[in-house]
Amino acid sequence: MTVSLPHGGTLINRWEPDYDITKINNSIEIDEIALSDLELIGTGAYSPIKGFFTKDDYQAVVKDMRLSSGHVWSIPITLPITDEVAKALTLGEEVKLNHEGETYGVLIVSDIFRPDKQLEATLVYQTDDEKHPGVKNLYNRGEVYVGGDIKLVKRIERSLFQDHYLDPVDTRKTFAEKGWKTVVGFQTRNPVHRAHEYIQKTALEIVDGLFLNPLVGATKSDDIPADVRMESYKVLLEKYYPKDRVSLAVFPAAMRYAGPREAIFHAMVRKNYGCTHFIVGRDHAGVGDYYGTYDAQKIFGNFKPDELGITLLFFEHSFYCKTCGNMASAKTCPHGKEDHVILSGTKVREMLRNGEIPPATFSRKEVIEVLIEGLKKNEVFN
Ligand code: ADX
Repeated sequence: MTVSLPHGGTLINRWEPDYDITKINNSIEIDEIALSDLELIGTGAYSPIKGFFTKDDYQAVVKDMRLSSGHVWSIPITLPITDEVAKALTLGEEVKLNHEGETYGVLIVSDIFRPDKQLEATLVYQTDDEKHPGVKNLYNRGEVYVGGDIKLVKRIERSLFQDHYLDPVDTRKTFAEKGWKTVVGFQTRNPVHRAHEYIQKTALEIVDGLFLNPLVGATKSDDIPADVRMESYKVLLEKYYPKDRVSLAVFPAAMRYAGPREAIFHAMVRKNYGCTHFIVGRDHAGVGDYYGTYDAQKIFGNFKPDELGITLLFFEHSFYCKTCGNMASAKTCPHGKEDHVILSGTKVREMLRNGEIPPATFSRKEVIEVLIEGLKKNEVFN
C-alpha cells in the first residue's frame, strides 16, 4: 500500500542493469549534475519524466511550468553538450552516458536543439545575473541540449551514508510499513537549526510522519558539506525526535538555487517519494536577495490543488523570541525585532570560524559541536 500517488499516477522505473550496452559505440561524457538527474529519472524520483527534455517539454516547462503532457513541472531537466559532441550524434541512435570512465545510462537521441539560455535564466531563475550560482552553472554547461528517454544501467557507488540512499520505491514501502497515512517532506541544504526543528515539529502535530530529506547533490562551495550536515541530523534525531515518527533519507539532486521554481520541483519530487505534505518556509531554495521572502509559497497559487497532488504547509519566518521564551513567528509573537534571535547562514559560519558559539536559542549545542568538528576537517568551510 502506498501513501500517495506519484506525480502523473505511475512511478517511473528506468532501471535496466542487464541492458546490453556492448553494441553501442557512441557515448557522451556527462557532468555531475546530469549524472544525478540521470539516476533520479531512472529511480522514478522525477516521475512522470522518462528522460532528458526534448524541445517540446523544455519550452513548455520554461514558459508555462508544465510538461507538454500538461503535468506541473518547473525546472528543465536537460542534458547539455557542446556543438562538437552534437555533430557526432544521429537522431534515433542510442548513446552511452558516461561519467569518469563508467557508463551509467543509455539515451535514445530524440532531439538536439539550441536553447535560449538567457530566456531560461530569466524565466526559471528570475535573473540572468551570472553571479547567481544556478545561472552560473546554466551558462557554464554545454550550448546544445540533447533530449530523449533514458535507461539507467549502473548506480552511483557511494562511500558515505550509504544506508540513507533510498529510492522512491523504498521510501514508499517504509512509510507504508510504519503505517503512516500522512507524511510531511522537508527539504534542506543546511544543518537543522531551531527554526527548522520548530516548523518540522509543528507539522508533525498534524501528520503521521516526517520525511527529513536533505539535498546532498552538488551545492555551492560555501554551503556546509553534506557529510557534516548528515552528522548533525543524526545527532539531533537521536536526542530530540521521536524515532518512530521520522525517516531520514538523502535527496541526491544538485541544488539549483532557483527559489520559487525549485520549491515546486522539490514538492513534486517529495510526492514521488510518497509524501502527502511538503514544507515551504521562508525564501525556500533561495540565495542572496534574488527572491522575495515568500515568493516560493506564492508561486503555488498558479496551480489547482489536484494538479499538485500534495498539500503544501507554508511557514512564516520563525525565530526564538526572548520575551515569549519560545520559538515563534510574526503570526504568533507580538514583540519587536530586538527580542528575536535571527542569524543568517553566513553569520553562523563567520561566528564558527572566529571560535564563537552561536546561541542555543539559534541552534542546539549538539549541532554546533558537529559543525565545529566539521569546520576543523573541511577547508571549503573556511
Ligand atoms: S533550502 O535551500 O533547502 O530551502 P534551508 O535548508 O535553509 O534551505 O531551508 C529548508 C526549509 O526550511 C525551507 O522550506 C525553508 O523555507 C525553511 N526555513 C529555513 N529557515 C527558516 C526560518 N527561519 N523560518 C521559516 N522557515 C525556514
